[in-house]
Amino acid sequence: MVSQDVYGGTYRVLTTLFRRWGLEVTFVDSSVPEQVEKAVRRNTRALYVETPSNPLLKITDLKAVVEIARRHGLLTIIDNTFMTPYLQRPLALGFDIVIHSATKFLGGHSDLIAGLVVTADEKTGKKLKFIQNAFGAILGPPGLLVAAPRDENLSGARGSSAGGSSEAGSLVEGTKRD
Ligand SMILES: Cc1ncc(COP(=O)(O)O)c(C=O)c1O
Repeated sequence: MVSQDVYGGTYRVLTTLFRRWGLEVTFVDSSVPEQVEKAVRRNTRALYVETPSNPLLKITDLKAVVEIARRHGLLTIIDNTFMTPYLQRPLALGFDIVIHSATKFLGGHSDLIAGLVVTADEKTGKKLKFIQNAFGAILGPPGLLVAAPRDENLSGARGSSAGGSSEAGSLVEGTKRD
């Protein structure tokens, strides 16, 4: 199940490439939790949300949808690109997987094309790391040089202001830093 109003690239892979591989998608207005509950099917395995959504900036109540997902045994995934971990902490609200395009606010200067995935548990992280390694989706040396100093700043800033872990993880390693 996927938020109705997701980033176009997400919509495109779901409705073309992944569909060819047999993945079925139910699009739902996740800003209305009752609709999420109603749309769960027997074969639903995961809930993927984006909030605020792109382009309509709809807001999903993350706690409410995590509660629904847990009751139905669904994996929870969120694209947290717009808010960044400074403003929205999905892992703390119970999400399993958080995706960021670091090209936007995390990169901050329109000079980086990068993305990262943070997982709540190590087992899922290792599975994703295997896929990343198999596909070769890594930052090249120029991207690493741009990302590494900002990564340090981000981890340091979170550490001192929140006194806890960095949900952004590491832009460079793509792993969660505690
Ligand atoms: C919410 C969201 N997620 C992901 C992406 C994809 O980002 P990238 O350009 O880093 O592939 C975008 C791009 O606009 C976006 O708005």
